[in-house]
Amino acid sequence: MAEQAQLFQDLERIRQVALEDLQGIQDEKELQSWRSQHMGRNSLYMQVFSKLPELPKEERPLIGQAANKIKNDLETALEARQFELKAKSLKQSLSSERLDITLPGRRVSHGRLHPSTLTLRKIYGIFAEMGFQIYRSPDVETDSYNFEYLNMPAYHPARDMWDTFFTTTPNVLLRTHTSPGQIHAMREFAPDPIRVILPGMVYRYEQLSTRSEIQFNQVELLAVGRDITFMDLKGTLEDFTRRMFGEDARTRLRPSYFPFTEPSAEMDVRCYVCGGSGCPVCKGSGWVEILGCGMVHPVVLRYGGYDPSQYTGFAAGLGPERITLNRYRIDDIRHFWANDIRFLEQFS
Ligand code: DAH
Repeated sequence: MAEQAQLFQDLERIRQVALEDLQGIQDEKELQSWRSQHMGRNSLYMQVFSKLPELPKEERPLIGQAANKIKNDLETALEARQFELKAKSLKQSLSSERLDITLPGRRVSHGRLHPSTLTLRKIYGIFAEMGFQIYRSPDVETDSYNFEYLNMPAYHPARDMWDTFFTTTPNVLLRTHTSPGQIHAMREFAPDPIRVILPGMVYRYEQLSTRSEIQFNQVELLAVGRDITFMDLKGTLEDFTRRMFGEDARTRLRPSYFPFTEPSAEMDVRCYVCGGSGCPVCKGSGWVEILGCGMVHPVVLRYGGYDPSQYTGFAAGLGPERITLNRYRIDDIRHFWANDIRFLEQFS
């Protein structure tokens, strides 16, 4: 009887010591060693069990029941501690890492195409469908290509139409227009027929203002062959403007003068801002000038290597920035090359 009481006491002590120990446990590893120490094969608790056979038969069930109850208590306490520790470590890592997984992600910033590039690509696409190839010619030219072969010999007053950047090398300059490319193309292809566009940057010694820059793009148009007439020029340009500005775009040709074409003209489109009633974009006229054009001058054909009695051609020069300004209603041409990202990222 005394032995039985002693065993009950032992069990109660085992339980208390184990539960006290459990409160000091701080992580999963310690938890495992606690389990083997207090509930494992060599634990005090198991030693109580090994004493059971020494007890009288009728006492064994009582002790067994008490031992089982302790086992259950310890397991329940273990689970509760495990849960507490997990919650604690989650709380710790949330506050130390300061990672808020509910925050929305940051936007990835994508590059955009320059507005001039967008307009240029549209122009390339339209002329490609009409069978015009792209032909590149140099930005740095000689006086001959930029002026003389275009029917402007030295001291010709028409040279004043272009304020020119000269280099320190005599007769070498930055091209003031894409027209010199006409001569390069003709000299490469003569006597075969030609249908090309010549896009590229041109340079002018200008006072900077909202409407003029020292550099901008031009797209030159050139067709040379037998039996090319002014009708072909007009039809091509009208087709172009309708594809560029829409089916109901209206155009008009005005007589003009360029040394390298005869006859020469300028083409206007009905102002696509006001529709013709007059506004600041068209300066009240209802029309916006978009290009110069004409029939290639016989002198130019000859410099290009074509016999003007056998061949004719048409040419035009258009300004993509002029078109872009109007297309997006941009009020200052200097935005184009200022590289202000706030301006550039607006176009897609
Ligand atoms: N090269 C002229 C300019 O820069 C534009 C031009 C006018 C080009 C008439 C042409 C043309 O091909 O036929 O002002």
